[in-house]
Amino acid sequence: MLHCFTPGGIWPDNNGVHINAHGGGIIKHENRYWWFGEHKIAGEAGNRAHVGIHAYSSSDLMNWTDEGIALKVEPEGSASLIAKGAIIERPKVLYDSANRRFVMYFHLEPVNAGGYGAALTGIAAAGAVAGPYTFIRGIRPNAGHWPENVRPEQQDQKSIGQAMQYPGNISNGNNPVTPSLNILGRDFVKGQQARDMTLFQDDDGKAYHIYSSEHNSTLHIAELTADLLGHSGRYWRAFEHRWMEAPVIFKHRSRYFLIASDCTGWAPNAARLAVAGHIGGPWQELGNPVHGNTEQMNNTFESQGTFALQLDDDRVIFMADRWRPENAIDGRYVWLPVKFDDNAIPYLEWSNTWNTGNM
Ligand code: DGJ
Repeated sequence: MLHCFTPGGIWPDNNGVHINAHGGGIIKHENRYWWFGEHKIAGEAGNRAHVGIHAYSSSDLMNWTDEGIALKVEPEGSASLIAKGAIIERPKVLYDSANRRFVMYFHLEPVNAGGYGAALTGIAAAGAVAGPYTFIRGIRPNAGHWPENVRPEQQDQKSIGQAMQYPGNISNGNNPVTPSLNILGRDFVKGQQARDMTLFQDDDGKAYHIYSSEHNSTLHIAELTADLLGHSGRYWRAFEHRWMEAPVIFKHRSRYFLIASDCTGWAPNAARLAVAGHIGGPWQELGNPVHGNTEQMNNTFESQGTFALQLDDDRVIFMADRWRPENAIDGRYVWLPVKFDDNAIPYLEWSNTWNTGNM
């Protein structure tokens, strides 16, 4: 029995095997927590999906039972978008109680899409929390919809044409041309790019898909349909040209807080905190959420966020990954309690060991 969390350590499951659920998220269902994450294999090849999405369950968040592969990849060489060798990242699951259906979203890059070029969202569903999940589709969100906070110049055909014809590499925060390109307009018809992502379900039941879009330069916050199977077409752009990845969202005292990372591949970087009174914004950046030494502040305890597990309004767990891209299966989990200062602003502090009893 484990009695505490040990951030960054080996985390054995019920079989004594290090938990294999990277870039994951958690849903509570009938008094049990279910953790879904990327199943990695050894070596660098493990950064792609060779097995699928792994599920674990727990009643206390420390001791996890291996529940097997919830969504399996299709055989190598198959025409499926989730064929073995695809990139399948950051899965999150929500429950649609009206239809008694569990719906999983993830970032999907099919095998032959040229690395991270497709920027699709994968959607899968199951009748039981453990699965098996059936892959439904891989899409670019919000095709044919403008965001709530669109600007007139983004709907201008000339600027859309210019962005379509731009030959250079946009996926680079250092390209001085990128901020002037109308990437939103360019992707209006075929749908918006969606990479790093999370899901968030608000108190009123509305669910949102928050993802890095527009070559990762800008975050989109998109409402889902009531059955969770797609996007409603209502969405907002936020953090324009701030190159945010790994978005994590939670709510405290009626305000929304977002913790995200900078965009530096697998290498950790300094996290950013932001607050809003409405999920679509306007968001106000509040700086680095880490309270610690310079190294901890610069690399977020050598980790990158993946999910905020909200136990109640005051108790939130920041879940992050310590990636090991050269041997993906050895990636570690850094879970820390979110602390709140006197102004109800969240921050993160290192703890060698802790448990939910002393949050
Ligand atoms: C950073 C993202 O946060 C990860 O999920 C992954 O996509 C890596 N980039 C790949 O370099």
